[in-house]
Formats: sequence, C-alpha cells, structure tokens
Amino acid sequence: MSGIFKADEANICQAAELIKGGKLVAFPTETVYGLGANVYDAHAVAGIFAAKGRPSFNPLISHIAEPSQLAEYARADERALFLAKKFWPGPLTFVLPRLDENPALDLVCAGLKTITVRCPKHPVALELIRQSGVPIAAPSANRSQTISPTTAEAVYESLGDNVDMILDGGACEVGVESTILDLTTSQAVLLRAGGITKEELEEALNEPVAISDGNPNRPTSPGQLLKHYAPSKKLRINATERQDGELFIGFGPEYPWAEMNLSPKGDLREAAAHLFAYMREADKNPNFSRLAMAPIPFEGLGLAINDRIKRAAR
Ligand code: TXA
Ligand code: MG
Repeated sequence: MSGIFKADEANICQAAELIKGGKLVAFPTETVYGLGANVYDAHAVAGIFAAKGRPSFNPLISHIAEPSQLAEYARADERALFLAKKFWPGPLTFVLPRLDENPALDLVCAGLKTITVRCPKHPVALELIRQSGVPIAAPSANRSQTISPTTAEAVYESLGDNVDMILDGGACEVGVESTILDLTTSQAVLLRAGGITKEELEEALNEPVAISDGNPNRPTSPGQLLKHYAPSKKLRINATERQDGELFIGFGPEYPWAEMNLSPKGDLREAAAHLFAYMREADKNPNFSRLAMAPIPFEGLGLAINDRIKRAAR
C-alpha cells in the first residue's frame, strides 16, 4: 500500500502495524512531517535513507512519546532532564551521549557515539509512537536537499510511493524544524535554530548557549559532533583480495571466502543496514589486525556507504 490516509484511529493503528513490520510511515509532527521507521530495525532505517536519496548517513532524530523515556534511551544529564520537563512535548531536540552500544541503533546514530532525541507535540505522532511500541526514527519527509514538508500532499509530491503510508493530520502548526541542542559538551551548543529560541533555552538553563558555526564537522565547541568514530584498525577499501592479516568484508556473491559479507546477494539496502554493526564487530575481532572491504557500487544507497567507508579508511 502507499498514498495519503486520513489520520483517524483505524489508520493510525494500521500505520503502527506497518512500523512494527519494518515499513516506512510519514506522519505529522507540530514542526514538519517526518518519515518514520522503527529505530531498532536497521533494514527499515536504511529504507529511510534510500527513500530520501541522501548521499550520506546523517544521524536521525529518534522520536519518543513519553518525556520520561528519555533516560532509558540516552545518557541524559540534569540539563537534558530539566529542559525536557520544561519544553516537551515540543520542538526541541537533544543530542546526547548514547546510553549503550546497541548495534541495532548504529545506523540511526550514523555510527556516532551520540543519539538525537525529541518528544513531538502532535497527537497523531504521539499516538503512532505509542501504538508502535518503539521510538520512531524520522528525518523530515522530503527528498534530500529539498524543503521540509508541512502537509501530507507535500510529502507525496516529494517522496511519492517510496513511503508505505502517509498519515494526513493537516498542516503543521510550527512549520519549521525543531531546535537542535547539543548537550554532549559542558556548554550547550545550538546546532539548528527552530521552534524553541536560544533565548528561551538560555533563560531556562541560566547560562549562555553557544552557536555552532554551521559546519557540523567543525563545531565551534570541542564536541566534534559529526566526527565519526573510525575503526581503530586500518581499513582498505575497494579491495578484491585479501592481504596479510586482513579481515575481509565482501559485498555480493563473489566473496564466498570472506569473513563477513555486507550482502551476499548484492543488495545495497541490506548492506547499509549491516554496515556499522559489521565494522564495529570486525574492529573488535582479535584474530585480525587490519580490515579490507570489497568495492561498493556508486548508486542508490551505495553513495552513502561509500561516503562513510571513505571516512573510515582515512
Ligand atoms: O522538526 C524536526 O526536527 C523534524 C521532525 C520530523 O521531527 N525532523 C527533522 O529531521 O528535521 P532531519 O533529519 O531532517 O534533521 C535533523 C538534523 C540533520 O541535519 C542531522 O544531521 C542533525 O539534525 N543531527 C541529528 N543528529 C545529530 C547529531 N548527533 N549530531 C549532529 N547533528 C545531528
Ligand atoms: Mg531535513
């Protein structure tokens, strides 16, 4: 199924079943429409990147329905708990240290040690998350590099039938994305201006909030947000045969001898879903001192995979 469905009780229930089944559902929040999937289902999350046509793996916001779930999910300090109490549900997103190293979350976190969480203020979003029984990972429901959608029709125009269901809850009230606040550093850093203002945050925290210079790879503060953790072992990419000491990660059917294979059938979505967890596992394997990876085609999700492994291979 696909297309636009009125966000009534029956359709929200149906949408929650789709989320549980690993499908993609676009849903309204108070800011913009999100393109959602079960955070713990890497294959579904890979589908988000495929549908958006993102050329790299950006970390995604995990949406929760109860502010009190924050501490179960991220390493929330006092600042985060206080701000959540004051502004949630609402258009404020926190970047926090990950609570655990659950590899199922690696793709949502784009391989970072941080997790990004918000509790949206929209009855449809909250009901969908509750009924799905898991946090929902969702970027804005538009193709990469285009404007965030504030109506169900705009979602359909941008993503069409790449979404399994679009829940129509009318136009979004706020219309701009949530404020993103990095709380991984001693001074809070505003990464994106949005529905909650810097002044409101400073007043609540009773201390100044820094502003990121807009380059996520070079924040003004020492947080170094999008600096992905590279494997500690040297990674050789575009490899077609093994060299001494290497653990080989294949892609496609030509590598039956490889220790690991991102997708033996050569499916890029499957490869994306496995990428971070496999690299993590390979890095930990005590029997090998180096890593090598087979070439990944430069098409579809292969662009994002290549972007990531190129960084890891530096
Ligand atoms: O209002 C919103 O926030 C909407 C609704 C659907 O909740 N979502 C949204 O998600 O705008 P998205 O993915 O389109 O924008 C989130 C931005 C991305 O630019 C991402 O790179 C950045 O937040 N981001 C997420 N986690 C991050 C992290 N750990 N460190 C730095 N930047 C992060
Ligand atoms: Mg976006």
